[in-house]
Amino acid sequence: MRAKIVAGNWKMNKNIADSGVLLSELKEKLKETPEAKVIVAPTFTNLYYAFEELKGSDIDVAAQNMHQAESGAFTGEISADMLTSIGVTTVILGHSERRAYFGETDELLAEKVATALKHNMTIIFCFGEELEERKDNNHFAVVESQLKNALFSLDSSAWKQIVLAYEPVWAIGTGETATPEQAQEMHAFIRKTISEAYTAEVAEEVSILYGGSVKPANAKEIFAKPDVDGGLIGGASLDAESFAAIANSF
Ligand code: PGA
Repeated sequence: MRAKIVAGNWKMNKNIADSGVLLSELKEKLKETPEAKVIVAPTFTNLYYAFEELKGSDIDVAAQNMHQAESGAFTGEISADMLTSIGVTTVILGHSERRAYFGETDELLAEKVATALKHNMTIIFCFGEELEERKDNNHFAVVESQLKNALFSLDSSAWKQIVLAYEPVWAIGTGETATPEQAQEMHAFIRKTISEAYTAEVAEEVSILYGGSVKPANAKEIFAKPDVDGGLIGGASLDAESFAAIANSF
């Protein structure tokens, strides 16, 4: 059975003191383990602290990004080895903000994915169409090519370490959410595409999260869809009460 996952992407929010407050509130509120696996992704400077704070809890820690090279002259960057050396074995790759503001392409992401896999990491791989692409009825083709370019040269065994996060760009941070039907339609398409490229088994086993303005008020309906296995949560993950409510929405 594929895992249900609720992951909080804190983006560039929360200093160390604020992170401490949020983490202890979360530990308290998520004492009764939700049905979903819960992950938080604080910024790099808070990762080690978060990992230590969450030891012994059921909450996992992920990084928001990493560099594709093993090491070297890449000022300001963070490697897979640096992350795993502090215990962080999950990384978000391909977030639309990385693609839009930092020029990350499918080809670059394929390299990052390869490096993360080499270090035995789990990857939360984000992708999704922009508003114009949906308006032009191009969203299925866009999503298919994002998957194909970045992931479809992987061996089928690598898919055990991949979690997908479908995040339509028009729904991220905008308050506008895909309807549960739109999410289900795309998630089913993604599963079919993977099944055609690999096998039905690979497609059935991969968790596909939805991201884009998920809130306590809409999480239940979205997560109830058969091909939606959880969510990647931005804004609402910065508040313990709302993130815990989302995590308990299954
Ligand atoms: P949002 O962000 O929940 O604030 O829309 C989602 C994301 O960027 O992963």
